Amino acid sequence: MNNNRGKFIVFEGIDGSGKSTQVKRLANRLIKEKKNICKTFEPTDGPIGSLARQMMTGRIKADNKTIALLFAADRIDHLLNDINGIVSMLKKGINVISDRYYFSSYAYQSSYIKMERIIEANIISAQTMRPDVNIFIDINPQTAFNRLKKKRSLLELYENITDMQKVRKSYFKAFDKLKNEEKILIIDGNDAPDNIELKIWNNINKLLT
Ligand code: TYD
Repeated sequence: MNNNRGKFIVFEGIDGSGKSTQVKRLANRLIKEKKNICKTFEPTDGPIGSLARQMMTGRIKADNKTIALLFAADRIDHLLNDINGIVSMLKKGINVISDRYYFSSYAYQSSYIKMERIIEANIISAQTMRPDVNIFIDINPQTAFNRLKKKRSLLELYENITDMQKVRKSYFKAFDKLKNEEKILIIDGNDAPDNIELKIWNNINKLLT
């Protein structure tokens, strides 16, 4: 791929970390800077992602292993589909910001499948497109849980405090495992949203210039 390709920026974090807010804030800043951007998320709202979401809520019954492989399949579709695939966007010079990518699978699905297996299951995505940066919004799981409780009446599959603590630990385990291959930026998510935004912006600005 040539040097004019867009940058691929991924946000990661436990549920309630505030990453979706930061995705929006970064997107707005980039738009103000007249950059071409596309904001996206996983699981996607495409056919495979929708299936995965319905399995997570229990609307469709499925084994966790099935869900794990669907997340991996959804990701390939997210990268390669002809309509709004990440790879074609990047090739056109569009910067892509994704709310979650494969580190979400490493952190969440490793609670029931060995992390190495999840990494292997996502190897095609990793070989197709590694993010220019994985931004991890690191928040205290208790704070995140309190936020979720206030916001939602129906908590999703992984939204309880013990699981959230486990997921946070797994993120760090995955970052350590892949520190030589991946660019990881850890941001203190307990800080005020404006400060978080600024810290992210300072890093992304460097990446884009
Ligand atoms: P989330 O970003 O919280 O979306 P929403 O705001 O719609 O709830 O993601 C939904 C859930 O999907 C979240 O609990 C994490 C989970 N997930 C995985 O378990 N594995 C994955 O690979 C991905 C992408 C998400």
